[in-house]
Amino acid sequence: MGNDIKTYKEKFEKYYDEFKWLYYELYENREDTFKKLCDMMYHSYQERKASLKELDNIRSKKPDWYQGNQMLGMMLYVDAFAKNLTGVRNKLDYIEECNVNYIHLMPLLDSPEDNNDGGYAVSDFRKVNPKLGTMEELEQLAEECHKRGISLCLDFVMNHTSEEHEWAKRARQGEKEYQDRYYFYDDNKIPSEYEKTVPQVFPTTAPGNFTWLPDIEKYVMTTFYPYQWDLNYQNPVVLNEMIGNVLNLINKGIDIIRIDAVPYIWKQLGTTCRNLPQVHNIVRMMRIICEIVCPGVLLLGEVVMAPDKVVPYFGTVEKPECHMLYNVTTMATTWNCVATKDIRILKQQMDIVNNLPKEYIFLNYLRCHDDIGWGLDYLWLMQFGIGEVSHKKYLNDFFIGKYPGSFARGELYNDDPSLGDARLCGTTASLCGIERAIFENKEADLAYAIQLDIMLHGYMLTQSGIPVIYSGDEIGQENDYMYHKDIKKREDSRYLHRGKFQWDLAKQRKETGSVQQKLFDSISKLEKIRQSYSVFGNDADVFTIETEDSSILGIVRLKGKEKLVALFNFSEVDRTAWIHEDDGKYTDLITGKIMEAKNVKIPAYGIYWMLKNNMA
Ligand code: GLC
Repeated sequence: MGNDIKTYKEKFEKYYDEFKWLYYELYENREDTFKKLCDMMYHSYQERKASLKELDNIRSKKPDWYQGNQMLGMMLYVDAFAKNLTGVRNKLDYIEECNVNYIHLMPLLDSPEDNNDGGYAVSDFRKVNPKLGTMEELEQLAEECHKRGISLCLDFVMNHTSEEHEWAKRARQGEKEYQDRYYFYDDNKIPSEYEKTVPQVFPTTAPGNFTWLPDIEKYVMTTFYPYQWDLNYQNPVVLNEMIGNVLNLINKGIDIIRIDAVPYIWKQLGTTCRNLPQVHNIVRMMRIICEIVCPGVLLLGEVVMAPDKVVPYFGTVEKPECHMLYNVTTMATTWNCVATKDIRILKQQMDIVNNLPKEYIFLNYLRCHDDIGWGLDYLWLMQFGIGEVSHKKYLNDFFIGKYPGSFARGELYNDDPSLGDARLCGTTASLCGIERAIFENKEADLAYAIQLDIMLHGYMLTQSGIPVIYSGDEIGQENDYMYHKDIKKREDSRYLHRGKFQWDLAKQRKETGSVQQKLFDSISKLEKIRQSYSVFGNDADVFTIETEDSSILGIVRLKGKEKLVALFNFSEVDRTAWIHEDDGKYTDLITGKIMEAKNVKIPAYGIYWMLKNNMA
């Protein structure tokens, strides 16, 4: 027996009982399908390239390899950024110039030309969208990334397939075996029962959770768009096949798997069909499968929910599920504070996150490819008499530039007047006022807008976890209104912030005094500082401090001899942080200024990273 086969068998045995128990809990006595799954895992392991196994070994010896202060991510659309996969490979120098060592390529598998939800409607999990390249090119890109120490993240859209997927086509042709892989109903009886308890994801752009197929006179479950058919994980064949698909992708050299829309994967009548215990069974099984077959691979769960729903996806210390999750509430709360200039709710949100175990790794971000949903702690806001519906209206009015004095330019997403629950789209630069100031040619406003944008990035980089930049934000890319003219996209305002990367603007990062240069250099400087001081690592002790000013957020990070006092002014006026860290001199890492952490004057949208590195 080869050495690596021996390792495999040991791992397999270690997890066998738990794995089997989890599987049988979902699929009682399905020894046949369980055996098939185990065989497939073994097969995937045998197929795994030696170079990837070597990476697995290195990472297994240092299981916290992705933690700490070194990892910096960027998410991008392959076509928007560089046309295709080869284009991305040719642009890796730029990515490295951005200090990035982890790239999330937005969905790139084959999907229909029109109905594709930005690639989240996959029609073939084993084929790259021919417009973007081939599987071989993906493999080559992964290899090149690995040479440069860059990790590659890809989506695994497991909740649904496109209606053009082979299974969906065969189901439509009446093949029962394939209909059983989805949720099909002859009449509205059961669908209408589901509708009583299942909320809607896209209430305006795709209302309802079922779609009537007139050609075959059946209903099919479609939680997202009508062309995204929900997979039926109560059928073990679906789980097995989908695991086969993800392992196939992983073996191309993918380091991080983003499990798309994971809370939705298990459905049960009479429930919300969100976050059901069976979902956790499946995620835990996926973790076990990775530990056995490809221990260097990380799972990133996409759980865009309230904190009490997010955290369980980390699992427990003994039985972990995802390695990483999005810090979504912090992201939305940050934008809330940009509008209100009041950081108290953000301080409270940070206190919650900072009290979680340090092994819980969050992805921190200002913007992503989706909308901003106003999932704030409304119970907390209630103490100030702030109500959910009116506050959401205020935030949306502010960020679409309707509110008096607002500098932002965004657009509503899934505006549902009956619930008063619209969400929001827009790029970071446009939401910070850069777009408006340039358009109206207001120089002073532009300076504030740039400063706000930099401050927000600084704040993101101060949080424990992995910061992820949205491609284009590093050069202040603005909203792209072109989608209004595209009949297939114009209902979906998320395309507002999914515009083509503007390489002409990127060039201007080298021109002193340009908006791009100011942003690019400032953000880059902050990123480099973060990567140079271990106090930014996730093993630091982190807590907020009282600044006696509701516009200034104060954060302390402690690690070994290093203490960092970070201050952020969320208002457009100069203010003072009434802090009293009476322990001597600090150096502001950004300006090099020596200062005391006492009654610190902080300019409009200012940021300080004050470090003391001789702690007892
Ligand atoms: C995730 C994606 C989103 C997509 C949805 C359905 O939430 O981020 O863009 O629409 O899943 O796949």
